[in-house]
Amino acid sequence: EDTDKGAYPYYMLKEIDEQAVVARNIAGHYYDEDGNLQGIPCAVTDAIEEADRLYIVAAGTSYHAGLVGKRYFEQWAKIPTEVHIASEFAYDQPMLSEKPFFIFLSQSGETADSREVLDNVKKQGFPALTLANVMNSTLTREADFALPVLAGPEIAVASTKAYTAQVLVQAILAAALGNPGFDLKAELAKVAVEIQAITDEKETFKKIAEDALVGQHSAFYIGRGLDAAVALEAALKLKEISYIQTEGFAAGELKHGTISLIEDKTPVFALLTQSKTAGLLRGEVAQVAARGANTIVFASENLAKEGDAFVLPQVNELLMPLLAVIPAQLIAYYATLARGLDVDRPRNLAKSVTVQ
Ligand code: G6P
Repeated sequence: EDTDKGAYPYYMLKEIDEQAVVARNIAGHYYDEDGNLQGIPCAVTDAIEEADRLYIVAAGTSYHAGLVGKRYFEQWAKIPTEVHIASEFAYDQPMLSEKPFFIFLSQSGETADSREVLDNVKKQGFPALTLANVMNSTLTREADFALPVLAGPEIAVASTKAYTAQVLVQAILAAALGNPGFDLKAELAKVAVEIQAITDEKETFKKIAEDALVGQHSAFYIGRGLDAAVALEAALKLKEISYIQTEGFAAGELKHGTISLIEDKTPVFALLTQSKTAGLLRGEVAQVAARGANTIVFASENLAKEGDAFVLPQVNELLMPLLAVIPAQLIAYYATLARGLDVDRPRNLAKSVTVQ
């Protein structure tokens, strides 16, 4: 695949735009023409089926993808799943179940913190699978099993398509282990179409970014359930390249501290795609608005109300993270551009962190 920016000013924008194609490529790789899963060796599913608990270990954006993947493994495959930050797990290993199975999630396959954990768990004799974008990397070679994430080369430091690809591949793996209860392949085709539809709305997100974020020194992303997981990734995107201090967190926690930070015009982005908690989240949006916040709601079609900043196309609720993250990527991009910063190369950061 092409590592040229082409007509794009920055790799990040190119990689955001590639996500619809990546979603199709992943489906094309993991499903045959009759809609049957392929490309996941029985040895992998057999090994996971022997486990009593999954441990997803990752860093940064990959960790955030793991927080979404946990839902698929628990809800579809019915396997209890924990998600851990590699640098923490490496030195404070939690008490493990009797038959743990490890899943390493990594764009580069080279992250030193994750490698340290893989070394440790191998010494303890536990089985491990790596899901990586760069195959033939240290983490794919050293794990018992490896599956490709298939995002294609990702050059921008801020990870975008690797995140969506990791979420997609986890969904497919969980479907291979259990039953989503709907036609995942058909729904993923819809996801690809809708990712494209959102990335076609660049002007909308450029305007939101410029209106809400220019001149601001802090911002918040809130959500509940899967939207709380996406809020972490959304906040990371914005802060890492625009240098606007951004917190992402579970909206119910607002009242336990963070709401005291809300000032006049503080931007609060709310991700609202989960029906069970939509009412509560609406309440939280109202509470911050009453304290002066500039609330910007991204709601899914079924839950949208007048005044929301953008309506996300509706797909299966568990797959909504794949759509909800896209506006956040574009907002991070345009906010950074508006500040005149180098989108692809934020200060102090590296694409792959090979030291602990
Ligand atoms: C670096 C990158 C992040 C990435 C993290 C984990 O910090 O800048 O974008 O999420 O490493 O990397 P990995 O390659 O293991 O996914």
